[in-house]
Amino acid sequence: MKRVLSGIQPTSDSFHLGNYLGAVKQWVELQDGHDAFYCIVDLHALTVETDPALLRKRTLASAAQLLALGISPEKSTLFVQSQVPQHNQLGWIMECLTGFGEASRMTQFKDKSSKAGADSARVGLFTYPMLQAADILLYQADYVPVGEDQRQHIELTRDLAGRFNSRYGQTFQLPEAYILKTAAKINDIQEPTAKMSKSSGSVAGVIEIMDSPEANLKKIKSAVTDAGREVKFDPIEKPGISNLLTIHSALSGSSISALEGEFAGKGYGDFKAAVAEVVVEYLRPIRAAALELLEDEKHLLDILHQGSQKAGAVAQETISATYKNLGVVL
Ligand code: TYM
Repeated sequence: MKRVLSGIQPTSDSFHLGNYLGAVKQWVELQDGHDAFYCIVDLHALTVETDPALLRKRTLASAAQLLALGISPEKSTLFVQSQVPQHNQLGWIMECLTGFGEASRMTQFKDKSSKAGADSARVGLFTYPMLQAADILLYQADYVPVGEDQRQHIELTRDLAGRFNSRYGQTFQLPEAYILKTAAKINDIQEPTAKMSKSSGSVAGVIEIMDSPEANLKKIKSAVTDAGREVKFDPIEKPGISNLLTIHSALSGSSISALEGEFAGKGYGDFKAAVAEVVVEYLRPIRAAALELLEDEKHLLDILHQGSQKAGAVAQETISATYKNLGVVL
């Protein structure tokens, strides 16, 4: 069976629709027929200032949401990154393999550090992609289901794996990014040329899984639309409508062209009401299931501990092979 690995940061109280459509929906689909490892990457979340109580709460909320969205602990290994210390062990080796210039070219680092101001950006933000490479390579993953914004990090991971293999002997599987064409980048519904984002999005532009149905209904009805009145997929001229068409299509399963046909001659108002209905009804049972799961913390912790044990066993095999090939005395 092919191996799949992906990760998500517990940096907010709720995942948003971009996280789900760009990544987690594919995680759920890939559980069948693949050996899947899904990781809540809490160490990655430390690259920005964190409050201890919030980190704990958000890690558990992440687990509850992933389960509610359809990740099954019977089919997948769901775990917390910090519970598997091999991530840090391999992370260091990846840092020692990466050129300073190469790391400086990572666009996420450039964006985030320029927002934080070069002096206040953490060193951890700079080395973040090397820890991500370790996350992937530890599990010898074949596929990494992510949104478009992670493509460059997966490319770096492949480069590092290839470099290590050619210097020290075959050790790592070269992973492939698994990025859907249709939902690789969901945009902010208030600023539809920018990515929907936990860190930089406007509150009104980000549709959160844990938001109340009423709040999401209101947000979508106030989504920014474009000039003209035709419901047509045209990301350049109509970024707002195109983004809403993408969201509707991904959740309802109707094709974009079928939706264009359905709303021909109707205005943006009718279309937004239909998108709101689809999103709210899709998320309603998911939010309810996540809230219920959060009531039994012990159950969540049991699932995560079991996952971390399984992940740790696989990770240890890779670390042992890596150390051996590096010449570390074992
Ligand atoms: P994170 O936590 O920012 O996002 C989790 C996943 O959601 C995707 N995503 C989006 N997809 C489409 N449209 C959007 N607007 C959108 N916003 C987010 C991301 O591409 C991602 O797949 N570095 C990673 C976490 C990570 C990881 C890994 C991923 C750490 N280690 C190993 C894969 C493999 C990140 O910050 O994702």
